[in-house]
Formats: sequence, structure tokens, C-alpha cells
Amino acid sequence: MCLPPRVLTNRELERMVDTSDEWIQERTGIRERRIADADMATSDLCAGAVRQACDDARLEPAALDALIVATSTTDTLFPSTACWVQRKLGIKGMPAFDVSAGCSGFLYGLELASALVAAGHRAVAVVGGEVMSKVVNWKDRGTCVLFGDGAGAAIVTPGDGRSGVLASNWGADGNLAPILYQPAGGTQMPASHETVEAGRHTVHMEGNTVFKHAVVAMSSAAVAAMRDAEVTADDITLMIPHQANLRIMEAARERCGIPRERMYSVLHKYGNMSAATIPVALHEARSEGRIHDGDVIVSTAFGTGFTWAATVLRW
Ligand SMILES: CC(C)(COP(=O)(O)OP(=O)(O)OC[C@H]1O[C@@H](n2cnc3c(N)ncnc32)[C@H](O)[C@@H]1OP(=O)(O)O)[C@@H](O)C(=O)NCCC(=O)NCCS
Repeated sequence: MCLPPRVLTNRELERMVDTSDEWIQERTGIRERRIADADMATSDLCAGAVRQACDDARLEPAALDALIVATSTTDTLFPSTACWVQRKLGIKGMPAFDVSAGCSGFLYGLELASALVAAGHRAVAVVGGEVMSKVVNWKDRGTCVLFGDGAGAAIVTPGDGRSGVLASNWGADGNLAPILYQPAGGTQMPASHETVEAGRHTVHMEGNTVFKHAVVAMSSAAVAAMRDAEVTADDITLMIPHQANLRIMEAARERCGIPRERMYSVLHKYGNMSAATIPVALHEARSEGRIHDGDVIVSTAFGTGFTWAATVLRW
């Protein structure tokens, strides 16, 4: 994983908007988050995460045969952030592209990587990375307290037949696009002086509506993936949900019938890093010795779009 060093605490936010540490912790479970420096782009964090994942996999980045970046906070509207990551890693040749599926992006990328590996690719990098701090409205207390910056990566390779993705479930409902989006800057509403003045280049979110859909989508996708993987809640050694709000995570966990002590969270430290939350949590769980060979892990996510995805894998 690769996180910017700057920490922004709830106490500091109290001095920026009308909020309190108590409110943020009680309603979301977040205590602090990381914030990128002014000169840091999403591709910088993604390149850092890919480099580390390659080291861990004992692989040169140049040996990757595909690079998938999951992000909503792209470096530029074009080209893809994945191409900027290639440039920063000093690699070329392999296909590189972005997946735009919001917070479900890493699991969407994992699904694509698995398919590429099944089709003969040997080493596919999937990286979820975001610099949310550059697209949130720092005057809107309903959103700015929620998000953080970071990136996490995985290298997907052909398995030994025992470990890997057992089943997944993914989907989208574009009818819900307006409940969470960045209105301006694309072809719907090109950038202009007016859009900048009206703050239309920042996150627009109907928090309560997102909350309700998130709980249902995350739990339904996880239950469906577990059924298709032919595992029960008892078989799950660790649940790594998308980390947006502890209350959403808890509600989804309960609906899946997985005990509290088997859910892993880094939300309190990092906030909602969108596509980066699952790979960062996966990395930290592994570093802390919470993941062992043969463990069955379920990950589930929801995000802008509205998208959802769940994956059951055997480590
Ligand atoms: C945003 C969210 C934390 C709000 O929590 P909530 O319990 O639903 O709170 P509400 O929106 O009902 O707001 C309750 C009150 O708190 C206020 N409030 C909102 N943000 C606040 C903040 N940061 N500090 C203090 N008060 C705040 C509201 O203005 C409202 O005040 P009012 O009753 O006087 O109108 C919650 O809806 C949420 O997490 N939604 C999902 C968001 C998400 O996960 N997005 C990412 C998707 S990947």
C-alpha cells in the first residue's frame, strides 16, 4: 500500500467546519484520515503501491502483462491514470487501463484480472487508488469528514488450483447515478467559471439514500458470492468490507451472519479511501498476521454508479 504521510484528525476538522470528533466517531467510526500533498496525484500513490506489490511478489514491474487502475479521482480526464502510472514506473508495452466503478473498483478490477489470468496472462496488477481530498467540498461537513487518500495493489497470477478467487458477484444500477457523483468537469457539465464558483467539481452525495442502498447491496452481493463459492458464514475466516462507515459495515456483516471479531477494519485510521480501502485493509490484515494460507476471505463493496461487487477467495 502507499499512503500520503499527512494525517488529518477529527480535531483539526473541528476547526474547518461545524462538526465534532464525537459526531464523526459516533456516526462513522472515523478518527483520522491521510491527505495527499498539493503536488501528489493519484498515479503517485498507485505507482508506489504497485512497486511494493511487485517487490512482495518478487517481480519486476516491467514483467507485468497488464495494469488495471481502479479510481474515481483520475489524474486527468484523459489519458487513463493507468498510463500515468506506467510513466511513473518507467514501464511500457503491457495494456494499461482504468476501471471506473467507484468504491467497488478494486473488486471490479480483481474480477477482470482473474478473467485475464484465466485467458493466459501471467501477472496482472490491480491497484485501487484515490486522492479524494482534491474532489471533496471542504465546506460541506456532510461529506468532507468521510474521505481520505491512499492506494493499495495486488498482483494476480495463475494459481495452484487450491487458492484464488472462488466466486464473485458484481453488478450496477445506473438509475442511482445521481445519488453520488461529481457533477462538473465531464461532457454533461464542462468546466466553466460558473461551475467552479458553484462548487460543482466536488462530491455531491445524498448520504442517507447511499447508506440504505449500501447495506442491502453489500450484504446481498456477499451472500450470493458465498453461496456460489459453496461456503457458509462459519467458513469465512475474515470479512474485509469496503470501509465507508462503520455502521454500514456492521449492518452488512450482521446480514451475512459473520461474527464481529471476524470483520477487519482500518476505517478509523484512514476514512473512506474509495477504491483503495479493500486492498489497503487486505495488506494491513496480512501484515498483522490475520491472514493465513487456506483462509477463506470475503470482500464486499458498493460505490458510485451505483455499483456493487463481492469476492470470496481462498488465500
Ligand atoms: C453521511 C452520513 C455519515 C450522515 O450520517 P447520518 O446519521 O445519516 O446523519 P444525517 O445525514 O441524517 O444528519 C443528521 C444531522 O447531522 C448533521 N451533520 C451532517 N454531517 C455532520 C458533521 N460532519 N458533523 C456534525 N453534524 C453533521 C446533519 O446536518 C443533520 O443535522 P439536522 O438534523 O440538523 O439536519 C451517513 O449518511 C453515511 O455515512 N452515508 C453513507 C455515505 C457513504 O458511505 N458514502 C460513500 C459511498 S462509497
